[in-house]
Amino acid sequence: MNYLQEVRNQYENYPYPYRNPEEEKQRLLATQDGYLEKINHFCFQGKQSFNNFRVLVAGGGTGSAAIFLAEQLRYRKNSEVVYLDISKQSMEVARKRAEIRGLDNITWLHHSILDLPHLDLAPFDYINCVGVLHHLEDYHKGLKALDSVLSPKGCMGIMVYGKHARAPIYQMQELMRLVNEDEPDMQARVENTKNIINSLPPSNFFKQREKEWMSEVEEYGDIGIYDLFLHSRDHGFDVLELYEWVGNCGLNIVQFIGPMFESKIGYEPKTFIASPAVLQKIYRLPKPKQQAIAELLSGLIQRHSFYLSRSRNTTASIENLDNVPFFFQSPPHGLSEEIKRNRGGKISLKSPDQIAVQFQPTRFTASIFQNLDGKRSLKEIFNKIRKELHAPALSHSELLDDFQKTYTIFNDISWMLLRHHSVPQFLPASQLQERVNQKYKND
Ligand SMILES: C[S@@+](CC[C@H](N)C(=O)[O-])C[C@H]1O[C@@H](n2cnc3c(N)ncnc32)[C@H](O)[C@@H]1O
Repeated sequence: MNYLQEVRNQYENYPYPYRNPEEEKQRLLATQDGYLEKINHFCFQGKQSFNNFRVLVAGGGTGSAAIFLAEQLRYRKNSEVVYLDISKQSMEVARKRAEIRGLDNITWLHHSILDLPHLDLAPFDYINCVGVLHHLEDYHKGLKALDSVLSPKGCMGIMVYGKHARAPIYQMQELMRLVNEDEPDMQARVENTKNIINSLPPSNFFKQREKEWMSEVEEYGDIGIYDLFLHSRDHGFDVLELYEWVGNCGLNIVQFIGPMFESKIGYEPKTFIASPAVLQKIYRLPKPKQQAIAELLSGLIQRHSFYLSRSRNTTASIENLDNVPFFFQSPPHGLSEEIKRNRGGKISLKSPDQIAVQFQPTRFTASIFQNLDGKRSLKEIFNKIRKELHAPALSHSELLDDFQKTYTIFNDISWMLLRHHSVPQFLPASQLQERVNQKYKND
């Protein structure tokens, strides 16, 4: 047996996260790592066509990642998603969801991640493994098993739990292990947990922060309670451990891609510390230590979500002028008008993730944003600006230096991405549901 029996029992009885397949008729759930435009930007230098593209969703659970990826890839040639999980019940929910959507580009495997090196599968260009490796007995072996089926230029989207922000959860898990020591019945353990939650005094560590987690319990009910408080195997990582783990496997962290402060800015000490003297000291340390300081300081990183690759050079860059800059998801409304109106002050915006963004427009910001339409490459934008400003001598590098500052601010929170001009525009996630809506419009 290549998995933990108790972990399998949990996910057979409480498939996580709870999903009702019928809801597929109304909406498509997106997953953090799974947008093709994001994978393209961070993992393939913006140049991936996604034709002949192979995806593995390892520990696919009730199917959201497999479905979101398969839904985008059904418009590409010869691409496939392979779903794998040890829980038959979870796989049934996922299959039903795919069936309702009419997706036929998913292969279903009932196996453990640790079986992967022996399944004789063709290598994968992208591996999604979200919320799984921290539940394995040996997460080193788990990552190595994934790496054994990754194509040489392939990338992974991984999520594992954060040790420090989840400290109240780990305390609750320890408490429930003691309370349930002689309780073999899973549902009785859930009932005991509900009783204990109702008895927690204000001094309890979890009670003080319960708001952060109660939405999960409310949304997923007993399934959520089991996953949060009763897991038999749940390992939280801190940043330093993360680097050691992926480094041992010969992999590199490309970018942290979670929402809000679980994105790159949440791993930056300067997001939280104002003192220049302290910052100067911290930024002399190696990057993993800088990020470890930010993690301990904020206490906000419940999940580490990141892309992994074997190479260090997978992210699209504005140095390549054939790249097209575009706003990911919703562009800021009326930005170029606001920049034009602006008289030297800073501009404040809220990202789709509700992150406050502030930037100082520079000499060419208004011209650049006026021409930034998600279709033109940087070269095309720059040529247009030269014409508009009657400034033929204006060099690429002058314009690039000017754009660099604002680009970095938007890119650090994944609001602005790049794709090579040879790659067609991506369909917005909102349009991906259209086809399913058509299928059920008379229901
Ligand atoms: C918390 S759920 C996450 C599901 C899914 N990745 C998601 O993000 O919604 C963990 C999943 O990992 C699966 N799992 C646990 N150990 C596994 C193993 N050794 N091999 C394959 N799947 C495993 C469980 O059955 C469960 O479906």
